[in-house]
Amino acid sequence: MKNIDGYYDQDTHDYMRCSDGVFADFIFASMAQVMGDDYKKCRNAIELGAGMGRFSFTLVNRFSGVWLIEPARAFAQTLRELFPQEHVRVVDTTAEAFFASTPVPPDSIFFCFHLLHHLLRQQRKELFSFIHSTGAPAVFVEPNPWNPLLLLQIFFNKDMSVKEEIEYLRLTRRGLSRELAACGMQVMAHAPLCMLPPFAAMKALRISGGAEKLIRLERLRRLLPFMGSYHFFYCSRALNT
Ligand SMILES: C[S@@+](CC[C@H](N)C(=O)[O-])C[C@H]1O[C@@H](n2cnc3c(N)ncnc32)[C@H](O)[C@@H]1O
Repeated sequence: MKNIDGYYDQDTHDYMRCSDGVFADFIFASMAQVMGDDYKKCRNAIELGAGMGRFSFTLVNRFSGVWLIEPARAFAQTLRELFPQEHVRVVDTTAEAFFASTPVPPDSIFFCFHLLHHLLRQQRKELFSFIHSTGAPAVFVEPNPWNPLLLLQIFFNKDMSVKEEIEYLRLTRRGLSRELAACGMQVMAHAPLCMLPPFAAMKALRISGGAEKLIRLERLRRLLPFMGSYHFFYCSRALNT
């Protein structure tokens, strides 16, 4: 198990801080273009490694029960302040400890945004096996390993260390699909996401008509996949498992 203390201290990783759901809604709209609306049938969302809630806004607005699992105490406190709603539970623990102690409610779906590359391979295996055992679908969003700008970001960002981040290069479509398949999960949809760097997308979303233009830009995902800042996997338990 990796030690996260120190890496995710208070007042670090400001690029993960958001005060509203404009960016999260855009990312969800982009994913929905590819995965359809099937996930909306789920009533409960469990987000693992929720950070400071950058992507949690849409979950809180769309699902009737929301669990935000976040082991870094400073981040969990930010989540509590951002989401005081009754249907939201913030749990400051790891995904592993949460699974060991809490039964997963029916009609759940898991979300992990930028979590997998911070886990050891064995931790990912346990995570996928657990999700498989629940029968719930899952969405994984990771940095796009084919986008060269991300290496620059890691190099220049004072809060990022190559050691903590570099595993994302292994989580290609093929690499992660194999890890999932070994745990009985299949990938139902996959695509690059967010054709602009996130800071530029956030600015564009504030301009009138910006959201519609950005969503149109997402059509380039198949032509210019290396431009995506992220890529996402929509997964479910494989039929024969
Ligand atoms: C790169 S941050 C992503 C945060 C947020 N999802 C986002 O994209 O803005 C990774 C997060 O995973 C959390 N984390 C690390 N190990 C974890 C584990 N074993 N279980 C659950 N969360 C974990 C960290 O505390 C951190 O907040």
